[in-house]
Amino acid sequence: MTRIPSHTVPGDKSLSHRALMFAALATGESVLRGVLPSADVRSTAAVLQALGVTLPGDWSATDTLRIVGRGRRGLLAPSRDLDCGNSGTTARLMAGVVAGHLMTATFVGDASLSRRPMRRIARPLTQMGAAFSFVSDDGLPMTIRGTDLRDINWVSPTASAQVKSAILLGGLVSGCSVRVQEPARSRDHTERMLTALGAPLIVTDDAILLDPVAQLAPLDFHVPGDPSSAMFVIAAAVLHGQPLEIRNVGINETRTGAFAVLRRMGVALECANRRESGGEPVADIHVGPGAALRGVVIGGDEIPALIDEIPMLACLAAFADGETRITDAAELRVKESDRIATVVANLRAIGADADELPDGLVVRGGAQALAGHVVTHADHRIAMAFGVVGSLPQHVITVDDADCVDVSFPGFWELLAGFPGAR
Ligand code: S3P
Repeated sequence: MTRIPSHTVPGDKSLSHRALMFAALATGESVLRGVLPSADVRSTAAVLQALGVTLPGDWSATDTLRIVGRGRRGLLAPSRDLDCGNSGTTARLMAGVVAGHLMTATFVGDASLSRRPMRRIARPLTQMGAAFSFVSDDGLPMTIRGTDLRDINWVSPTASAQVKSAILLGGLVSGCSVRVQEPARSRDHTERMLTALGAPLIVTDDAILLDPVAQLAPLDFHVPGDPSSAMFVIAAAVLHGQPLEIRNVGINETRTGAFAVLRRMGVALECANRRESGGEPVADIHVGPGAALRGVVIGGDEIPALIDEIPMLACLAAFADGETRITDAAELRVKESDRIATVVANLRAIGADADELPDGLVVRGGAQALAGHVVTHADHRIAMAFGVVGSLPQHVITVDDADCVDVSFPGFWELLAGFPGAR
């Protein structure tokens, strides 16, 4: 019997950010394994260090991190700007943390992050009592004067885990009550982690309610593999016609909408050996041998659970039989790049057939040999999605910024090069 290749992917980015933040706010020593050693997570670590948390300067995927928390409201006022690099999760979640401390801090970031909307977290946190000032209309730099925050009942216009988490973190730090309602369910890692650490949190059909928290227990958490990173490896397997297994991947249903879409497209994808780890469902992903892909319709409430996977799904759609139409995804325009414009421009640049919609895109499949130059705008998911396409032997695709994959997936190019016949 031939054994199918078995891989792992680096730790989940969303969970790694949250594990570091909750460890910093807990009372006692947390033990974290599998924390993603990527640029974005290092931004969170550096911001926490600037706020008085002792963390190792450098760590690798195999290290166990022991972090002594400073307590629910024990962070120290920073003596320097809080540099969030490229990381929206760092900026928005830590804004909630800072807003609930009696301190003033200025958040800065790289060119991409500085363009991304921050008023979406400033609005609720201002209603809770914090004071925000912006140098330009929106985005970074952003200065926050924290305070004793007030209770809030926030009806969010956007399904955003970062907005929801900023409010929950503000409530946690300040010990007030919080209710957040969102138009569709966004990823729920913050809720799961708070619950696992003993916080009084209730999730109803239409809202999340957090009662005042006295203190947070320390974590003992093993970060599972990132399903968003797994998506690129799965897509490579599909395009190379190579069955494979990816062990120990998070399969939280608020993150795995793309797996359901892949099945609709004709991919044989199974989750085996399902288990739970630290309140998060985990499994080994099995991808069957080569499938003929079908075009699909993607939209509505399934979008938040696959928003980060759309660049890769759009590239796969170029090889499908028929048209793929993605709508209700206007949020893509405010990610690390305008991912609607970037994906469509790059698909066209390599010879595929795609058009922008105001809130999504249309890709007409049937691509043969694609060739051309991809402009990533330093967006890691653009580099990886087109990198997967370019790994096929018959395609000649260059990517302007290969290093940006380090934002979420260190080792991506090495893993991709392991596919038989990969360029
Ligand atoms: C994230 C939430 C999502 C996602 C991002 C990570 C998180 O953003 O796109 O990559 O860790 O909370 P929004 O909350 O803005 O949708």
